Amino acid sequence: MNDMARPGAIDPPYLYPDYLSTRLRSPKEALVELPAGAFDVPGPLVPKGFVRKGDNDLTIHGKRAPLGEKMILVGRVTDEGGRPVRNSLVEIWQANASGRYHHPGDNHDAPLDPNFKGIGRTFTDGEGRYRFITIKPGSYPWRNHPFAWRPQHIHFSLLGNAPVQRLVTQMYFPGDPLLAIDPVYQSIPDAKARERLICTQHLQTGIEMIALGYRFDIVLAGAASTPMGL
Ligand SMILES: [Fe+2]
Repeated sequence: MNDMARPGAIDPPYLYPDYLSTRLRSPKEALVELPAGAFDVPGPLVPKGFVRKGDNDLTIHGKRAPLGEKMILVGRVTDEGGRPVRNSLVEIWQANASGRYHHPGDNHDAPLDPNFKGIGRTFTDGEGRYRFITIKPGSYPWRNHPFAWRPQHIHFSLLGNAPVQRLVTQMYFPGDPLLAIDPVYQSIPDAKARERLICTQHLQTGIEMIALGYRFDIVLAGAASTPMGL
Protein backbone atom coordinates (compact mmCIF):
# COMPACT_ATOMS: atom_id res chain seq x y z
CA MET A 1 0.00 0.00 0.00
CA ASN A 2 1.37 3.42 -0.84
CA ASP A 3 0.29 6.83 0.36
CA MET A 4 -2.07 7.29 -2.56
CA ALA A 5 -4.11 4.26 -1.61
CA ARG A 6 -6.60 3.83 1.16
CA PRO A 7 -6.73 0.84 3.44
CA GLY A 8 -8.82 -1.99 2.09
CA ALA A 9 -10.55 -2.32 -1.23
CA ILE A 10 -13.83 -0.63 -0.40
CA ASP A 11 -13.17 3.07 -0.92
CA PRO A 12 -11.67 4.37 -4.16
CA PRO A 13 -7.98 5.34 -4.13
CA TYR A 14 -7.20 9.07 -4.10
CA LEU A 15 -5.43 8.64 -7.42
CA TYR A 16 -7.24 6.74 -10.17
CA PRO A 17 -5.65 7.93 -13.42
CA ASP A 18 -8.64 7.08 -15.64
CA TYR A 19 -10.68 9.51 -13.54
CA LEU A 20 -8.74 12.52 -14.74
CA SER A 21 -9.44 15.01 -11.98
CA THR A 22 -7.97 12.64 -9.38
CA ARG A 23 -4.59 13.29 -11.05
CA LEU A 24 -4.92 16.91 -9.99
CA ARG A 25 -6.44 16.56 -6.55
CA SER A 26 -4.83 13.42 -5.14
CA PRO A 27 -2.16 14.05 -2.47
CA LYS A 28 1.39 14.51 -3.75
CA GLU A 29 3.00 14.25 -0.30
CA ALA A 30 3.02 11.39 2.17
CA LEU A 31 -0.11 11.38 4.28
CA VAL A 32 0.10 12.47 7.90
CA GLU A 33 -1.30 9.94 10.31
CA LEU A 34 -3.48 11.54 12.96
CA PRO A 35 -3.64 10.15 16.47
CA ALA A 36 -6.58 7.93 17.38
CA GLY A 37 -9.59 9.98 18.37
CA ALA A 38 -8.57 12.99 16.28
CA PHE A 39 -11.91 12.87 14.48
CA ASP A 40 -13.93 12.74 17.67
CA VAL A 41 -13.76 16.50 18.05
CA PRO A 42 -17.11 17.57 19.40
CA GLY A 43 -18.50 20.16 17.04
CA PRO A 44 -21.71 22.09 16.91
CA LEU A 45 -24.57 19.71 16.25
CA VAL A 46 -26.70 20.43 13.22
CA PRO A 47 -29.59 22.50 14.59
CA LYS A 48 -32.99 20.89 14.25
CA GLY A 49 -34.27 23.91 12.34
CA PHE A 50 -31.69 23.33 9.62
CA VAL A 51 -34.07 20.83 8.04
CA ARG A 52 -37.46 22.32 7.30
CA LYS A 53 -40.69 20.58 6.53
CA GLY A 54 -40.71 19.55 2.89
CA ASP A 55 -36.91 19.57 2.50
CA ASN A 56 -36.99 15.83 1.82
CA ASP A 57 -39.42 16.33 -1.09
CA LEU A 58 -37.56 17.73 -4.10
CA THR A 59 -40.72 17.82 -6.20
CA ILE A 60 -42.74 20.51 -4.39
CA HIS A 61 -40.63 23.64 -4.62
CA GLY A 62 -41.69 24.93 -8.03
CA LYS A 63 -44.93 26.31 -9.40
CA ARG A 64 -45.74 22.87 -10.73
CA ALA A 65 -44.33 19.35 -10.70
CA PRO A 66 -40.86 18.85 -12.18
CA LEU A 67 -40.47 16.83 -15.36
CA GLY A 68 -39.31 13.24 -15.12
CA GLU A 69 -40.01 9.94 -13.42
CA LYS A 70 -41.13 10.55 -9.86
CA MET A 71 -39.45 8.26 -7.37
CA ILE A 72 -39.44 7.55 -3.65
CA LEU A 73 -36.03 6.76 -2.20
CA VAL A 74 -35.75 5.21 1.24
CA GLY A 75 -32.91 3.65 3.17
CA ARG A 76 -31.32 3.09 6.49
CA VAL A 77 -27.98 4.33 7.80
CA THR A 78 -26.29 1.87 10.14
CA ASP A 79 -22.92 1.22 11.69
CA GLU A 80 -20.83 -1.92 11.29
CA GLY A 81 -23.01 -3.86 13.73
CA GLY A 82 -26.30 -2.90 12.09
CA ARG A 83 -27.08 -0.34 14.77
CA PRO A 84 -29.01 2.68 13.48
CA VAL A 85 -27.32 6.03 13.00
CA ARG A 86 -30.06 8.19 14.49
CA ASN A 87 -30.96 11.86 13.94
CA SER A 88 -28.15 12.26 11.46
CA LEU A 89 -28.18 14.73 8.58
CA VAL A 90 -28.53 13.15 5.13
CA GLU A 91 -28.31 15.50 2.15
CA ILE A 92 -28.66 14.71 -1.54
CA TRP A 93 -28.03 16.62 -4.73
CA GLN A 94 -28.63 15.57 -8.30
CA ALA A 95 -29.19 16.56 -11.91
CA ASN A 96 -32.70 17.02 -13.26
CA ALA A 97 -34.42 14.51 -15.55
CA SER A 98 -32.48 15.89 -18.53
CA GLY A 99 -29.12 15.47 -16.82
CA ARG A 100 -28.57 19.16 -15.99
CA TYR A 101 -27.61 20.54 -12.59
CA HIS A 102 -29.21 23.72 -11.32
CA HIS A 103 -25.76 25.24 -10.96
CA PRO A 104 -23.97 28.03 -12.86
CA GLY A 105 -21.02 25.73 -13.49
CA ASP A 106 -23.14 23.31 -15.50
CA ASN A 107 -23.33 24.40 -19.13
CA HIS A 108 -24.34 21.03 -20.52
CA ASP A 109 -26.63 21.52 -23.52
CA ALA A 110 -29.76 20.24 -21.79
CA PRO A 111 -32.74 22.19 -20.44
CA LEU A 112 -32.98 23.46 -16.88
CA ASP A 113 -36.24 22.63 -15.16
CA PRO A 114 -37.58 25.72 -13.36
CA ASN A 115 -39.46 23.40 -11.01
CA PHE A 116 -36.48 21.37 -9.90
CA LYS A 117 -33.45 22.53 -7.91
CA GLY A 118 -32.11 19.05 -7.15
CA ILE A 119 -31.25 19.55 -3.47
CA GLY A 120 -32.80 17.73 -0.52
CA ARG A 121 -32.07 17.10 3.14
CA THR A 122 -33.51 15.19 6.04
CA PHE A 123 -32.57 13.71 9.40
CA THR A 124 -32.59 9.97 9.94
CA ASP A 125 -35.24 8.83 12.39
CA GLY A 126 -34.82 6.73 15.53
CA GLU A 127 -34.25 3.62 13.39
CA GLY A 128 -31.70 5.32 11.14
CA ARG A 129 -34.19 5.57 8.28
CA TYR A 130 -34.45 8.36 5.70
CA ARG A 131 -36.93 9.05 2.91
CA PHE A 132 -36.79 11.35 -0.11
CA ILE A 133 -39.28 12.13 -2.85
CA THR A 134 -37.57 13.15 -6.05
CA ILE A 135 -37.31 12.46 -9.78
CA LYS A 136 -34.92 10.08 -11.47
CA PRO A 137 -31.85 12.07 -12.58
CA GLY A 138 -30.71 11.95 -16.19
CA SER A 139 -27.24 10.99 -17.40
CA TYR A 140 -24.94 13.77 -18.50
CA PRO A 141 -21.78 14.05 -20.60
CA TRP A 142 -18.49 15.15 -19.05
CA ARG A 143 -15.00 15.83 -20.32
CA ASN A 144 -13.16 12.97 -18.68
CA HIS A 145 -12.56 11.15 -21.97
CA PRO A 146 -14.12 11.16 -25.45
CA PHE A 147 -17.86 10.37 -25.40
CA ALA A 148 -17.87 10.11 -21.60
CA TRP A 149 -21.29 10.13 -19.91
CA ARG A 150 -21.98 9.68 -16.21
CA PRO A 151 -24.44 6.95 -15.23
CA GLN A 152 -27.60 8.23 -13.55
CA HIS A 153 -26.68 9.01 -9.95
CA ILE A 154 -27.60 10.86 -6.79
CA HIS A 155 -24.90 12.42 -4.60
CA PHE A 156 -25.12 11.80 -0.85
CA SER A 157 -23.58 13.65 2.09
CA LEU A 158 -23.77 12.24 5.60
CA LEU A 159 -22.87 14.29 8.62
CA GLY A 160 -22.00 12.71 11.93
CA ASN A 161 -21.68 14.68 15.15
CA ALA A 162 -18.70 16.72 14.00
CA PRO A 163 -18.02 18.50 10.69
CA VAL A 164 -14.81 16.51 10.12
CA GLN A 165 -16.89 13.33 10.00
CA ARG A 166 -18.67 14.30 6.79
CA LEU A 167 -18.88 11.46 4.30
CA VAL A 168 -19.87 11.71 0.66
CA THR A 169 -20.80 9.07 -1.87
CA GLN A 170 -22.87 8.48 -4.98
CA MET A 171 -25.84 6.18 -5.50
CA TYR A 172 -26.49 4.51 -8.83
CA PHE A 173 -29.43 2.70 -10.46
CA PRO A 174 -29.76 -0.99 -11.33
CA GLY A 175 -29.06 -2.03 -14.91
CA ASP A 176 -27.42 1.21 -16.04
CA PRO A 177 -25.15 0.34 -19.00
CA LEU A 178 -22.97 3.40 -18.32
CA LEU A 179 -21.68 1.90 -15.07
CA ALA A 180 -19.35 -0.32 -17.10
CA ILE A 181 -17.52 2.68 -18.60
CA ASP A 182 -17.69 5.08 -15.67
CA PRO A 183 -14.26 5.68 -14.11
CA VAL A 184 -15.82 7.13 -10.94
CA TYR A 185 -17.75 3.94 -10.30
CA GLN A 186 -14.92 1.73 -11.59
CA SER A 187 -12.38 3.42 -9.29
CA ILE A 188 -13.71 1.28 -6.44
CA PRO A 189 -11.42 -1.73 -6.54
CA ASP A 190 -13.81 -4.41 -5.30
CA ALA A 191 -16.75 -5.46 -7.50
CA LYS A 192 -18.96 -6.39 -4.57
CA ALA A 193 -18.27 -3.03 -2.92
CA ARG A 194 -19.17 -1.27 -6.18
CA GLU A 195 -22.51 -3.05 -6.27
CA ARG A 196 -23.34 -1.69 -2.84
CA LEU A 197 -23.63 1.75 -4.46
CA ILE A 198 -26.51 0.54 -6.63
CA CYS A 199 -29.95 1.02 -5.13
CA THR A 200 -32.55 -1.71 -5.42
CA GLN A 201 -35.91 -1.21 -7.04
CA HIS A 202 -38.58 -1.78 -4.41
CA LEU A 203 -42.07 -1.35 -5.83
CA GLN A 204 -43.92 -1.26 -2.51
CA THR A 205 -41.83 1.71 -1.40
CA GLY A 206 -43.35 3.70 -4.25
CA ILE A 207 -46.79 5.27 -4.49
CA GLU A 208 -49.13 3.36 -6.73
CA MET A 209 -49.71 5.11 -10.07
CA ILE A 210 -47.49 8.00 -8.96
CA ALA A 211 -43.93 7.12 -8.02
CA LEU A 212 -41.48 4.25 -8.36
CA GLY A 213 -39.77 3.03 -5.17
CA TYR A 214 -36.07 2.45 -4.55
CA ARG A 215 -34.03 1.43 -1.51
CA PHE A 216 -30.48 2.43 -0.69
CA ASP A 217 -29.05 1.36 2.66
CA ILE A 218 -25.78 2.83 3.87
CA VAL A 219 -23.33 1.01 6.16
CA LEU A 220 -20.66 3.28 7.61
CA ALA A 221 -17.95 0.81 8.57
CA GLY A 222 -16.77 -2.78 8.35
CA ALA A 223 -16.34 -5.33 5.58
CA ALA A 224 -19.82 -4.63 4.17
CA SER A 225 -19.52 -0.87 4.29
CA THR A 226 -20.73 1.45 1.56
CA PRO A 227 -17.85 2.93 -0.46
CA MET A 228 -17.25 6.59 0.43
CA GLY A 229 -15.18 9.38 -1.00
CA LEU A 230 -16.54 9.62 -4.54
FE1 LIG B 1 -22.98 14.28 -10.43
